[in-house]
Amino acid sequence: MKFPENFLWGGAVAANQCEGAYNEDGKGIDIQDILPHGMKTPPTEEPTPDNLKLTAIDFYHRYKDDIKLFAEMGFKVFRTSIAWSRIFPNGDDAEPNEQGLKFYDDLFDECHKYGIEPLVTISHYETPLHLAKKYNGWANHDLIGFYEKYVRTIFARYGKKVKYWLTFNEINSVLHQPLVSGGIMTPLSELSKSDLYQACHHEFVASALATKIAHEMMPDAKVGCMILAIPFYPLSPNPDDVIQTMETDHANDFFGDMHVRGEYPGYMKRYFREHGIEIQTTPEELKLLKENTVDFVSFSYYMSSCISADPSKQAGEGNIVPGVPNPYLKASPWGWQIDPKGIRFVLNRYYDRWQKPLFIVENGLGTNDELVDDGKGGRTVNDDYRIEYLNDHLVQVGEAIADGVPVMGYTTWGCIDLVSASTAEMKKRYGFIYVDRNNDGTGTLARYRKKSFWWYKDVIATNGGSLKA
Ligand code: BG6
Repeated sequence: MKFPENFLWGGAVAANQCEGAYNEDGKGIDIQDILPHGMKTPPTEEPTPDNLKLTAIDFYHRYKDDIKLFAEMGFKVFRTSIAWSRIFPNGDDAEPNEQGLKFYDDLFDECHKYGIEPLVTISHYETPLHLAKKYNGWANHDLIGFYEKYVRTIFARYGKKVKYWLTFNEINSVLHQPLVSGGIMTPLSELSKSDLYQACHHEFVASALATKIAHEMMPDAKVGCMILAIPFYPLSPNPDDVIQTMETDHANDFFGDMHVRGEYPGYMKRYFREHGIEIQTTPEELKLLKENTVDFVSFSYYMSSCISADPSKQAGEGNIVPGVPNPYLKASPWGWQIDPKGIRFVLNRYYDRWQKPLFIVENGLGTNDELVDDGKGGRTVNDDYRIEYLNDHLVQVGEAIADGVPVMGYTTWGCIDLVSASTAEMKKRYGFIYVDRNNDGTGTLARYRKKSFWWYKDVIATNGGSLKA
């Protein structure tokens, strides 16, 4: 199995899940700093010591050693986010924070030292807390202006160092996790559908504006949207299940359609009409959306789900967007169902729909690992289960490429262990590199290569040739 030449192999993280140093060098507080127990629990008033993200894996101070390890695996690309509150501590400040800007300058230089291309998420679940508290995050139109100032600042500063940009992480998740995804303090139960879709509209406009500015300021830049991809299968051939699946797909595809086609689709207009939703917009905004569509579509893929029209069927655990468990699939200890063929399905589906290059920017197995002696005086993790998961997904990516789908690259999620987003814990590990840090905050923060480290190095060196179909 051979992947295209110049295929971008690599790994992905987000600032808030790995950097730590939550209040160093002028960084402001962001919403993750007040979410010590993850997405499903209420925020605290201020950062509390039980919040693992305050230190995370201390990537802020250890990035040079970590990037060296990524280079050792042969990474061609490294996806990370810029923490908005390092650049504008409150989000609405008049001037950017030079120390924050300098950190990412150094980080990107370090990547280039090894020929690793940075892939940057502009906003990955880390809205400055002040924007959440004062403006109610993306529920407020003013956020577009603050985001514009932020992107102009980072494009001016890193335009020569960063070619690939993603505007919002998993933009469709705002409907399900408005605080984490959109910095919206009002609890989900108190938000109307109009509030939520208005917030989406603000993000669409900001995303189109960022794409426009990127193309003006950095002619070689490629800008992508980023979608939480969950392929939905009808739980049964009952036409009611099939139609419900189509409608669930629409609710997600809407986000890609807005970025690729640049206009509100007919099915959404109908949904808005039937639910009394009216989006506040202007002809200028609609023109901006139409004229500034993305260069590529990126997505995260962990699992698929089923859809049933029968309300008695309960939703299972999973990555933010709910669905019914599939009786044919096994699940991780966190209940995320494992479906390698789903990635081939979603790649084909997205390409059929959007005819844009696709980039898999998150995929991986979050699970428990045990650090053991490696028999050579060192320590390792024998994570054959992770190797199997990644191998099987990559084989299906290869199948999609053989189907004719243009895939730009693949970055595994949490290429180094980090704090999980949904439950804010360390023991849900994704990495090729084990980090000695535990759920109770103990640990030396030392790094150890897992068995999968050597496996991935081989996959990259052979450009997929070592994968086992
Ligand atoms: C995605 C997010 O939803 O899934 C990441 O973009 C997140 O930030 C990843 O870490 C895995 O989820 P979790 O909850 O296992 O960390």
